[in-house]
Amino acid sequence: MRKFIIETEIERFENIHDLPEDEQELLVEAKMAMNDAYAPYSQFYVGASILLANGIIQKGNNQENAAYPSGLCAERVAIFAAGANNPGIEIRKIAITAQSKDFALDHPVAPCGACRQSMLEYEMKQKSPITILMQGRTGDIFRIHGIRQLLPIYFHEEGLMHK
Ligand code: THU
Repeated sequence: MRKFIIETEIERFENIHDLPEDEQELLVEAKMAMNDAYAPYSQFYVGASILLANGIIQKGNNQENAAYPSGLCAERVAIFAAGANNPGIEIRKIAITAQSKDFALDHPVAPCGACRQSMLEYEMKQKSPITILMQGRTGDIFRIHGIRQLLPIYFHEEGLMHK
Protein backbone atom coordinates (compact mmCIF):
# COMPACT_ATOMS: atom_id res chain seq x y z
CA MET A 1 0.00 0.00 0.00
CA ARG A 2 1.22 3.47 -0.83
CA LYS A 3 -0.16 6.78 0.30
CA PHE A 4 -0.14 10.08 -1.46
CA ILE A 5 -1.22 13.48 -0.32
CA ILE A 6 -3.02 15.99 -2.51
CA GLU A 7 -2.58 19.67 -1.71
CA THR A 8 -4.80 22.57 -2.70
CA GLU A 9 -3.30 26.02 -3.03
CA ILE A 10 -5.60 28.78 -1.82
CA GLU A 11 -4.74 32.48 -1.92
CA ARG A 12 -6.47 34.45 0.79
CA PHE A 13 -7.16 38.19 0.61
CA GLU A 14 -8.49 40.31 3.44
CA ASN A 15 -9.29 43.27 1.23
CA ILE A 16 -10.97 43.28 -2.17
CA HIS A 17 -8.69 46.14 -3.22
CA ASP A 18 -5.73 43.77 -3.08
CA LEU A 19 -7.16 42.00 -6.13
CA PRO A 20 -6.62 43.16 -9.72
CA GLU A 21 -9.39 45.38 -11.09
CA ASP A 22 -11.02 42.74 -13.29
CA GLU A 23 -11.43 40.45 -10.26
CA GLN A 24 -12.85 43.24 -8.11
CA GLU A 25 -15.38 43.93 -10.83
CA LEU A 26 -16.22 40.24 -11.17
CA LEU A 27 -16.95 39.98 -7.45
CA VAL A 28 -19.18 43.05 -7.61
CA GLU A 29 -21.05 41.48 -10.54
CA ALA A 30 -21.44 38.23 -8.58
CA LYS A 31 -22.96 40.17 -5.70
CA MET A 32 -25.38 41.88 -8.05
CA ALA A 33 -26.38 38.49 -9.44
CA MET A 34 -26.73 37.17 -5.89
CA ASN A 35 -29.30 39.84 -5.09
CA ASP A 36 -31.43 38.60 -7.99
CA ALA A 37 -31.35 34.92 -6.94
CA TYR A 38 -34.68 33.12 -6.76
CA ALA A 39 -34.37 31.35 -3.42
CA PRO A 40 -37.73 31.47 -1.63
CA TYR A 41 -37.26 28.03 -0.06
CA SER A 42 -33.73 28.19 1.34
CA GLN A 43 -33.42 31.97 1.72
CA PHE A 44 -29.82 31.31 0.66
CA TYR A 45 -28.79 33.57 -2.18
CA VAL A 46 -25.85 32.66 -4.38
CA GLY A 47 -24.40 34.67 -7.25
CA ALA A 48 -21.82 33.65 -9.82
CA SER A 49 -20.18 35.74 -12.52
CA ILE A 50 -17.91 34.47 -15.23
CA LEU A 51 -15.28 36.43 -17.11
CA LEU A 52 -14.88 35.22 -20.68
CA ALA A 53 -11.87 35.73 -22.92
CA ASN A 54 -13.86 38.19 -25.06
CA GLY A 55 -14.46 40.40 -21.99
CA ILE A 56 -18.12 39.44 -21.60
CA ILE A 57 -19.30 38.76 -18.05
CA GLN A 58 -21.92 36.03 -17.83
CA LYS A 59 -23.94 35.99 -14.65
CA GLY A 60 -26.01 33.38 -12.87
CA ASN A 61 -27.76 32.85 -9.56
CA ASN A 62 -29.52 29.97 -7.85
CA GLN A 63 -32.97 29.21 -9.20
CA GLU A 64 -35.11 27.19 -6.83
CA ASN A 65 -38.29 25.26 -7.46
CA ALA A 66 -41.19 23.98 -5.37
CA ALA A 67 -40.08 20.54 -6.57
CA TYR A 68 -36.75 21.04 -4.79
CA PRO A 69 -34.38 18.95 -6.95
CA SER A 70 -35.57 20.80 -10.04
CA GLY A 71 -33.74 23.95 -8.92
CA LEU A 72 -30.18 24.72 -9.93
CA CYS A 73 -27.11 26.27 -8.28
CA ALA A 74 -25.80 29.67 -9.31
CA GLU A 75 -22.52 28.30 -10.66
CA ARG A 76 -24.21 25.91 -13.08
CA VAL A 77 -26.76 28.50 -14.17
CA ALA A 78 -23.83 30.81 -15.01
CA ILE A 79 -21.53 28.30 -16.67
CA PHE A 80 -24.30 26.70 -18.74
CA ALA A 81 -25.41 30.18 -19.82
CA ALA A 82 -21.81 30.92 -20.84
CA GLY A 83 -21.65 27.68 -22.83
CA ALA A 84 -25.02 28.37 -24.44
CA ASN A 85 -24.51 32.03 -25.31
CA ASN A 86 -20.77 32.17 -25.94
CA PRO A 87 -19.87 28.75 -27.29
CA GLY A 88 -16.16 28.17 -27.76
CA ILE A 89 -15.12 31.32 -25.88
CA GLU A 90 -12.60 30.55 -23.17
CA ILE A 91 -13.72 30.90 -19.57
CA ARG A 92 -11.07 32.78 -17.61
CA LYS A 93 -12.47 33.39 -14.13
CA ILE A 94 -15.53 32.76 -12.00
CA ALA A 95 -16.52 34.68 -8.87
CA ILE A 96 -18.96 33.13 -6.38
CA THR A 97 -20.68 34.94 -3.52
CA ALA A 98 -23.48 34.03 -1.15
CA GLN A 99 -25.63 35.45 1.58
CA SER A 100 -28.40 34.16 3.80
CA LYS A 101 -31.52 35.86 5.09
CA ASP A 102 -31.12 33.88 8.31
CA PHE A 103 -27.47 34.32 9.29
CA ALA A 104 -24.45 36.48 8.56
CA LEU A 105 -22.13 35.01 5.99
CA ASP A 106 -18.65 36.39 6.45
CA HIS A 107 -16.59 33.53 5.03
CA PRO A 108 -16.07 32.25 1.48
CA VAL A 109 -18.65 29.80 0.17
CA ALA A 110 -17.30 26.93 -1.93
CA PRO A 111 -19.16 25.43 -4.88
CA CYS A 112 -20.92 22.10 -4.34
CA GLY A 113 -19.57 18.89 -5.83
CA ALA A 114 -21.96 18.84 -8.79
CA CYS A 115 -20.96 22.39 -9.72
CA ARG A 116 -17.27 21.49 -9.48
CA GLN A 117 -17.84 18.58 -11.84
CA SER A 118 -19.77 20.81 -14.24
CA MET A 119 -17.14 23.55 -14.21
CA LEU A 120 -14.35 21.02 -14.64
CA GLU A 121 -15.90 19.88 -17.90
CA TYR A 122 -15.28 23.31 -19.44
CA GLU A 123 -11.79 23.56 -17.97
CA MET A 124 -10.85 20.21 -19.50
CA LYS A 125 -12.42 21.18 -22.82
CA GLN A 126 -10.54 24.46 -23.10
CA LYS A 127 -7.31 23.01 -21.64
CA SER A 128 -6.60 26.04 -19.49
CA PRO A 129 -7.35 26.61 -15.83
CA ILE A 130 -10.29 28.68 -14.63
CA THR A 131 -9.56 30.97 -11.67
CA ILE A 132 -12.16 30.79 -8.90
CA LEU A 133 -12.87 33.64 -6.49
CA MET A 134 -15.09 33.04 -3.47
CA GLN A 135 -16.45 35.37 -0.87
CA GLY A 136 -19.36 35.49 1.58
CA ARG A 137 -21.44 38.62 1.78
CA THR A 138 -18.42 40.09 3.55
CA GLY A 139 -15.05 38.84 4.78
CA ASP A 140 -12.00 37.21 3.28
CA ILE A 141 -11.73 36.25 -0.35
CA PHE A 142 -10.27 32.96 -1.53
CA ARG A 143 -8.63 32.67 -4.93
CA ILE A 144 -7.83 29.31 -6.47
CA HIS A 145 -6.26 28.68 -9.85
CA GLY A 146 -7.99 25.80 -11.56
CA ILE A 147 -11.15 23.83 -10.88
CA ARG A 148 -8.92 20.77 -10.59
CA GLN A 149 -7.55 22.25 -7.38
CA LEU A 150 -11.07 21.82 -5.99
CA LEU A 151 -11.69 18.44 -7.57
CA PRO A 152 -8.31 16.73 -7.88
CA ILE A 153 -9.75 13.26 -8.35
CA TYR A 154 -12.47 13.64 -10.90
CA PHE A 155 -14.59 11.82 -13.41
CA HIS A 156 -13.66 12.56 -16.98
CA GLU A 157 -13.83 9.34 -18.84
CA GLU A 158 -12.63 9.93 -22.36
CA GLY A 159 -13.83 6.47 -23.28
CA LEU A 160 -17.36 7.88 -23.15
CA MET A 161 -16.64 9.78 -26.34
CA HIS A 162 -17.19 7.86 -29.53
CA LYS A 163 -14.48 8.59 -32.04
N1 THU B 1 -26.40 26.64 -3.96
C1 THU B 1 -25.73 27.23 -5.00
O1 THU B 1 -26.31 28.06 -5.73
N2 THU B 1 -24.43 26.90 -5.18
C2 THU B 1 -23.75 25.97 -4.45
O2 THU B 1 -22.61 25.66 -4.77
C3 THU B 1 -24.39 25.35 -3.30
C4 THU B 1 -25.81 25.70 -3.06
C5 THU B 1 -27.81 26.97 -3.79
C6 THU B 1 -28.76 25.84 -4.08
C7 THU B 1 -29.95 26.21 -3.25
O3 THU B 1 -30.77 27.08 -4.01
C8 THU B 1 -29.35 26.97 -2.07
O4 THU B 1 -28.05 27.35 -2.46
C9 THU B 1 -29.30 26.18 -0.79
O5 THU B 1 -28.65 24.97 -0.97
